[in-house]
Amino acid sequence: MTRTFIHGGTVVSATGSQLLDVLIDGETIAAVLRPGTTALGSDLAATADVVIDATGRYVIPGGVDPHTHMQMPFGGTEASDTFETGTRAAAWGGTTTIVDFAIQKPGERVQDTQALWHAKAQGKCAIDYGFHQIVGDVNDESLKGMAESVSEGVTSFKLFMAYPGVFYSDDGQILRAMQRAGDLGALLMMHAENGIAIDVLVEQSIARGDTAPYFHGTSRPWQLEEEATHRAIMLAQVTGAPLYVVHVSAKQALEQIATARGRGQNVFGETCPQYLYLSLEEQLGAPGFEGAKWVCSTPLRSREEGHQDELWRYIRTGDVTSVATDHCPFCMKGQKDMGVGDFSKIPNGIGGVEHRMDLMFQGVVDGRISLEKWVEVCCTAPARMFGMYPRKGVISPGADADVVIYDPRGHTSIGLGKTHHMNMDYSAYEGFEIGGHVDTVLSRGRVIVNDGQYLGNAGHGRFIRRALSQNLI
Ligand code: URP
Ligand code: ZN
Ligand code: ZN
Repeated sequence: MTRTFIHGGTVVSATGSQLLDVLIDGETIAAVLRPGTTALGSDLAATADVVIDATGRYVIPGGVDPHTHMQMPFGGTEASDTFETGTRAAAWGGTTTIVDFAIQKPGERVQDTQALWHAKAQGKCAIDYGFHQIVGDVNDESLKGMAESVSEGVTSFKLFMAYPGVFYSDDGQILRAMQRAGDLGALLMMHAENGIAIDVLVEQSIARGDTAPYFHGTSRPWQLEEEATHRAIMLAQVTGAPLYVVHVSAKQALEQIATARGRGQNVFGETCPQYLYLSLEEQLGAPGFEGAKWVCSTPLRSREEGHQDELWRYIRTGDVTSVATDHCPFCMKGQKDMGVGDFSKIPNGIGGVEHRMDLMFQGVVDGRISLEKWVEVCCTAPARMFGMYPRKGVISPGADADVVIYDPRGHTSIGLGKTHHMNMDYSAYEGFEIGGHVDTVLSRGRVIVNDGQYLGNAGHGRFIRRALSQNLI
């Protein structure tokens, strides 16, 4: 078994930062040592198989992205990253675990869809992966399937209040699924937008001739995110089930979450870098059809309305529990361009799995969040929330040796076309300059990225059978 010794770096956890050395034995962390306290450190430096000098750099747990959609069939096409290309890109960016979504559509059996997703991912992934289950058809059989899922390590379930006729659940179905999740101790995730009202606004917008990508945003106003979030919280309260609201973009929706948390309800918020940096005016409103690059739901919000500052604030207060990417990439050519002349035909989604750790570190550079908060929302909290802690999300003895060495004096330019590794013909963050750099990435003890070289392979990543969440408020 390979013994790896990382010395000289500052180990950052969700609770503090300290100069510490890390010993890895095979796939797991064997010890975390105070440098200079024993002769052991110099012995290890002399005898370990691999020695990494992390002086001047941060040593952090590998990123955990709890919301991705690799090769998701959606909007008449399929997300452009496969499990192979998407997890490789994630590794480049310092993410060592993803949780993707198996999808049950109306008429399908939950367990069949999970088998399908296993077949898509098995032997393909560069990093470890788990699944949530989208329940797109709440009925007696799928409610039974939820119990079976939990015993197979799929312990969280996503429902949609948006996309009528595709994944949509009505309030009665939501209530039933929440009751079931509550009984099982499982986590219910919600896409909270009032899809019935949105579909009317979309139809009216197209009929008026407002067909450009910008109008995707104006057809999904924040009031319909706030309303759905409030409704989901109330339904969860009636059932006693914990609730995790995904990809929150409106400050008013987060206010609902913060209020519920304030009264002690188990409600959690997730946001994504696109909502922290990009806007309705600058991106969705870009000239011509350019804005299609940023068509996603919930939509980018108006910068003028001040959502971004509030989202950062809710990260600091803890009402945003985790930052995910909702990675759902589509190329402009042949995919996004299906919606030229009609924004409702643009497949919804933004790719970013490669950039989350950097974009959130920029929040540290900009003084928005602390180093520890960076690690908390990108690594530790998602691992806890989704039943993978302390195996993932922390550098401590017994944990999987998923480690990132991050250089705060480095630099990352998210540039044109091919500086990224995601299977996309553009980058949603083109032109962004990040004041830091992912230097080295280890996945279960193995160096998979080092100094600008990819050393991993498809099939290294394993399926994680997740436990029930440790999600108490
Ligand atoms: O636009 C998005 N978010 N696409 C992916 C599917 C979803 O709703 O999460
Ligand atoms: Zn969603
Ligand atoms: Zn999503």
